[in-house]
Amino acid sequence: MENNLHNKVILVTGASSGIGEATARMAARHGAIIGLAARRSDKLRSIADDITSSGGKAEVFEADITDESVCNRLVTEVEDRLGPIDVLVNNAGVMLLGPVLKAPTGEWRTMVEVNVLGLMYMTHAMLPGMVGRKTGHIINVSSVAGRTATANSAVYNATKWAVNAFTEALRHELAGGKTGIRTTLIEPGAVATELISHNREESQEAINKRLAGINKRLEADDIARSIIYAISQPEHVSVNEILIRPTEQDG
Ligand SMILES: NC(=O)c1ccc[n+]([C@@H]2O[C@H](COP(=O)([O-])OP(=O)(O)OC[C@H]3O[C@@H](n4cnc5c(N)ncnc54)[C@H](OP(=O)(O)O)[C@@H]3O)[C@@H](O)[C@H]2O)c1
Repeated sequence: MENNLHNKVILVTGASSGIGEATARMAARHGAIIGLAARRSDKLRSIADDITSSGGKAEVFEADITDESVCNRLVTEVEDRLGPIDVLVNNAGVMLLGPVLKAPTGEWRTMVEVNVLGLMYMTHAMLPGMVGRKTGHIINVSSVAGRTATANSAVYNATKWAVNAFTEALRHELAGGKTGIRTTLIEPGAVATELISHNREESQEAINKRLAGINKRLEADDIARSIIYAISQPEHVSVNEILIRPTEQDG
């Protein structure tokens, strides 16, 4: 399929690893201009170097999206350096699993601040420009965990449920307001990234046990392709939702 990514400005949060990194690299190969945002600027710089040395365009924006003023500044700085943002990929996220009983509630706060508030701050910062230009695309990376709740995942489930509800309500506002802005919800199943490695050891063991039945998890590139697919559609086509699991994932 012919894609229309050439010279599109795409801001990807959580671009320092996993799905965000894969999306940034793939979009750059399709000719898009990439804003790479995350906290680990060393990782972002090496991704940007790879992209530019292969003839692509990418710049680094160190940002912690849990801070609303950082989100506001991020959008302004990206637009100053790269031009008006065509696509925002709200991908940054954390998954810290374990039972509710005796959970360290700091982990809950981190997930709510990154997965929910961070995504909302970024969207809030982005919308005035897109509405003014009457074009734009907001892509929110949720999860199968936004549809199916399981034991030991209550707060992660709650954050991704929130992402799904926020995205659907936003879609109504933007479509009903004839703003020209598209929204897409991406819901991956198990993807092989570093996401699990940020968990406490006992949680990592429990997660790996749960995933043991899946011979092949998705690759970050599998999700990147679905994001590129959504962006590549003609302006009148809004791909609202993509749910994508490994073939062997049951649940
Ligand atoms: N892997 C899966 O199985 C899976 C399944 C369903 C959904 N997802 C979702 O996919 C998204 C990407 O996850 P992934 O699997 O690619 O994991 P990952 O490799 O751990 O990537 C997470 C990204 O989020 C960034 N991030 C975390 N906290 C941040 C903060 N406060 N401010 C800015 N950036 C922050 C990290 O960058 P820094 O640490 O450099 O800031 C990193 O780039 C997440 O929303 C996750 O919930 C993943």
